[in-house]
Amino acid sequence: MVETFVHSTDDVVEFLRGQHNQIKDMFDDVVHASGSPARERAFVELRQLLAVHETAEEMVVHPRARRDIDGGDIIVDARLLEEHEAKEQLAALEDMDIDSQEFMDALIVFKATVVDHAEREETPRSSTGSSATSPQMS
Ligand SMILES: [Fe+2]
Ligand SMILES: [Fe+2]
Repeated sequence: MVETFVHSTDDVVEFLRGQHNQIKDMFDDVVHASGSPARERAFVELRQLLAVHETAEEMVVHPRARRDIDGGDIIVDARLLEEHEAKEQLAALEDMDIDSQEFMDALIVFKATVVDHAEREETPRSSTGSSATSPQMS
């Protein structure tokens, strides 16, 4: 269970960073894969990690942020909207020919969406644009 190793703010941020870095690496694997079988494999792995990551955020990170950060509900709702947007982009990618330029172009846009979202998750306090929020998540 994720909950067993996420006990503090530092744990949460470290957990997010670790998975976000893995996700970024996997995007590069998809982009740089040589040949469609390798690209397909890399894309499957990326989708699996995104699904695992999202589940962990739903179970642990988001509830914790709602509870512990000032304005947490607003921040988490904004992150959920971004995740919804990312999900739609991913669904569109799944329907594309993995060897097409269309796929590559959409993948780059999807990566930018995911990376921007990840950076906001790693710095929850800046999400409101306010310096009045608590510096502590726990
Ligand atoms: Fe997320
Ligand atoms: Fe994330």
